Amino acid sequence: MTMSNNNSKPAFSSSFIWGVATSAYQIEGAAAVDGRGPSIWDTFTHTPGKIIDGSTGDVACDHYHKYAEDVDLIASLSVDAYRFSISWSRVQPLGYGAWNEQGFEFYSKLLDKLAEKNITAHVTLYHWDLPQGLQDQGGWLSRDTPKHFAEYAAEVARRFGNRVATIATHNEPWCTANLGYGNAQFAPGIADTALAIQVSHHLLLSHGWAMQAMRAVNSSAKLGIVLNQWTAMPATDSAQDQAEAEWEYARSVQWFMDPIFKGSYPQKALDRMDMSQFHVADNDMAEIRQPIDFLGVNYYFRSYISTEVPAKKPEGKLGFSDMGWEIYPDGLTDLLLQLNREYTDLPPIYITENGMAVADTIQDGKIDDAARIEYVRLHLKALHNAIAQGVNVQGYFYWSLLDNFEWNSGYAKRFGLVYVDYETQERTLKNSALWYRDFIHDQVAAR
Ligand code: NOJ
Repeated sequence: MTMSNNNSKPAFSSSFIWGVATSAYQIEGAAAVDGRGPSIWDTFTHTPGKIIDGSTGDVACDHYHKYAEDVDLIASLSVDAYRFSISWSRVQPLGYGAWNEQGFEFYSKLLDKLAEKNITAHVTLYHWDLPQGLQDQGGWLSRDTPKHFAEYAAEVARRFGNRVATIATHNEPWCTANLGYGNAQFAPGIADTALAIQVSHHLLLSHGWAMQAMRAVNSSAKLGIVLNQWTAMPATDSAQDQAEAEWEYARSVQWFMDPIFKGSYPQKALDRMDMSQFHVADNDMAEIRQPIDFLGVNYYFRSYISTEVPAKKPEGKLGFSDMGWEIYPDGLTDLLLQLNREYTDLPPIYITENGMAVADTIQDGKIDDAARIEYVRLHLKALHNAIAQGVNVQGYFYWSLLDNFEWNSGYAKRFGLVYVDYETQERTLKNSALWYRDFIHDQVAAR
């Protein structure tokens, strides 16, 4: 791998995978179609006051009906790969018991269409949409939910394992635990930090059990997990800021990495957490510590830690996204190098998400999203920098293919390479989509 000299675009290896990503609840719509059961996000979005613009995912991008057109769009970007998630309650309406053949049929047709276009499929099993039927029985606070999750994982691996490149158990379990149970921003809307810790343990346990259940199926799919990660940078070199930054990193990144790679929780995190609800059964840590074939890393921003009152804010030299997130590409290099230092047996990494929300507007049929182009360009440079220093990263997925339902922000935040007019469901490629396509063309030409 070399730096090419044509306007200093980084050259990635010829096997590097270029992709785009989405998730089921954020794009599919068809919430009550063809036997799909409700998920906790249906319940949450239909509860007044939970979503900033009062919207729901009932229709979203209507991808359930427009999937073929959407795969054509993906193909038009020249990407190699598409990351999407399966809606558990579409294929198993209650989360336990009967499978829904019509639900599986939808994903089977999607996989056919992707294969026809030569696009590999990267599937996520859990992108936050727990079947409401399982929530009614305790959700992720119950040890039965991980059991059901392992059954669901095995069923997907049996049906689709030889038709997809990878299967990830979870997407960003940090969010499920801390936003779903810690501060109530996400479904199921519970604010209890002690419970959030126990939920995170059950999520990890469900990952471990699902890995084992899928291994037993013996498909060709590579198996792993997707974690959202950041470095935690102290605002000053004061002992307080540094200690706080270490604690932040321990409870967010190491909290999920250590059990998987080391079979234990980081002591630094345990020392300061509310353990009143924390129950770990005898064999749990061994169950969680399963070899994984790949690690998905979602990177958006760094965490900037200040103990001063009021807290110091990051300078934001490159500005902030429409989410208010600091644009800090160097953090991606820092993070990857740090992971490489700390974990000796890291599998290949995919950047399974990276992207920017911009307040895009369409003018004369065009969306001039120069800020997004710059964001991607700088993050790819930062990524290349990490690879050049020895980190084994094998792919990059832009989040997201389409503007979509951005959880509690509703439709107000647009992350897509493709603009969606929610009145007409018309899709329009943004300038960033054309830029990404051309970037990939250049990479392929240089192979
Ligand atoms: C992380 C999540 O996986 C995805 O669902 C979300 O839309 C993006 N980040 C942007 O917030």
